[in-house]
Amino acid sequence: MAESERSDVVRIADDDVDPTFDRELRELLAACFTKPGDEIFRTRRYYAQPPSWRWSIRFEDRLVAHVAAHDLAIRFGIRPRLRTLRVLGIAEVCVAPGSRGVGLVPEMLGVAHAFGVERGFDLAMLFGREAIYGSSGYHATSGRVNVIEADGTAAVRRDALLRPLASGVPEGDVILDGPAF
Ligand SMILES: CC(C)(COP(=O)(O)OP(=O)(O)OC[C@H]1O[C@@H](n2cnc3c(N)ncnc32)[C@H](O)[C@@H]1OP(=O)(O)O)[C@@H](O)C(=O)NCCC(=O)NCCS
Repeated sequence: MAESERSDVVRIADDDVDPTFDRELRELLAACFTKPGDEIFRTRRYYAQPPSWRWSIRFEDRLVAHVAAHDLAIRFGIRPRLRTLRVLGIAEVCVAPGSRGVGLVPEMLGVAHAFGVERGFDLAMLFGREAIYGSSGYHATSGRVNVIEADGTAAVRRDALLRPLASGVPEGDVILDGPAF
């Protein structure tokens, strides 16, 4: 990808997404996420809850890469000593098929992390594979990651990855009031 033909990583608040960008986002998300349930992206630009911010890259004015982030309060620690940290919850990471394999994911995440540090976020968290996110500083925690749904049901997630921002990753468990992002 020639550098002159592509944009920098651009941040936008989800509240500022206009109808044209909304359509571009839905098209990119629907092209990248294809498992059962992902059809939701054809009509909505988020999976469960709208994120606070989005970062994206354009190539020849076409949207080719995207990362969303939620502003979350999540409990960490060893019970009963839990503390609430502010977490940048990374979601909907995707790169258009023709633009993959050139490092757009770490580039977008690097910009999102700098923003997270500047805004005082303690940690970043996502659900995904260390093969993709390890080089961006995300690693599994040795504690249990419990997602508590609004109806009180709890599930343990084994695909959660954490990255330090303004703080280190605490010892112990993670308790996330769902839905997972
Ligand atoms: C996952 C996805 C975003 C990767 O895009 P990409 O442009 O290939 O990623 P990058 O070139 O920035 O690579 C980032 C890292 O991921 C690794 N990676 C990318 N695809 C991978 C795969 N299928 N399996 C294992 N590792 C992979 C790269 O080797 C690179 O690792 P490194 O930094 O240690 O060298 C893209 O394939 C996609 O949009 N998939 C569909 C949506 C999706 O599954 N999103 C992830 C949700 S958690």
